[in-house]
Amino acid sequence: MIHYKSAEEIEKMRQSALLVSKTLAVVTALLKPGITTLSIDKVIGEFIADHHAIPSFLHYNGYPFNSCISVNDVVVHGFPNKTELREGDIISVDIGVILDGWHGDHAYTFSIGNPGEEVLQLIRVTKESLYKGIEKAVAGNRIGDISFAIQEHTEKRYGYGVVRELVGHGLGRELHEDPQVPNYGKRGSGSKMKEGLVLAIEPMINLGVKEVFTESDGWTVRTKDGKPSVHFEHDVCVRKTKADILSDYSIIEKAEKENPNLFYPGQ
Ligand code: MF3
Ligand code: CO
Repeated sequence: MIHYKSAEEIEKMRQSALLVSKTLAVVTALLKPGITTLSIDKVIGEFIADHHAIPSFLHYNGYPFNSCISVNDVVVHGFPNKTELREGDIISVDIGVILDGWHGDHAYTFSIGNPGEEVLQLIRVTKESLYKGIEKAVAGNRIGDISFAIQEHTEKRYGYGVVRELVGHGLGRELHEDPQVPNYGKRGSGSKMKEGLVLAIEPMINLGVKEVFTESDGWTVRTKDGKPSVHFEHDVCVRKTKADILSDYSIIEKAEKENPNLFYPGQ
């Protein structure tokens, strides 16, 4: 069942999404070689609590951390751990909050130092594909229009692997609401979108093959070929002519450009 949100509910969801953006901006400023992803997860938990919100991933289906931090060939759902980040690593930080009963859920991928042109292009193109998907999130279009736009830009144009097993989703009082939003599909397929539908659109794109596997911890998803994977996620509200992006990358990108330890891949 699809839940459409009222104007007031959308403003509350914007606050939730923006709290995730602010948390990601705090993380951005901390990133450097030598830091552990577990220490980042601690900061995330404290920042969310200081803002009177709850980290929504913690205990979700038994997930044991505040955030998902996925390094290099980890696609998503990476456990924060005590391994130190190194120059040339890429890391996706995915954060969810519940603020005043409403979910925010979004993610960003960073380069610690220079991962090389091939990987920088993967980062750039995955982010572009997210915006190409968002362009299609307007009333009257179908979910498949979003899916097709992402797949065209990444798989067809660049030959990247589009992960099939994990998808974007509706967002609201629950972390995962209907409809599912795959990053692959046919134009004109799936349910028709109406104003007030809030979606988490989240391309997960591999440099190599599309196949992934889940580690024995039951969560960590890795690429089969061990090549890197990139993940970007925005929370967007479907509107008549142009989607309203509730989350905000501008504060993250500002912090990214200001942090000399990070490599800004460009737009
Ligand atoms: N952004 C991810 C998603 O939408 C995060 C979920 S991780 C979990 O599915 F721990 F909450 F499951
Ligand atoms: Co999500």
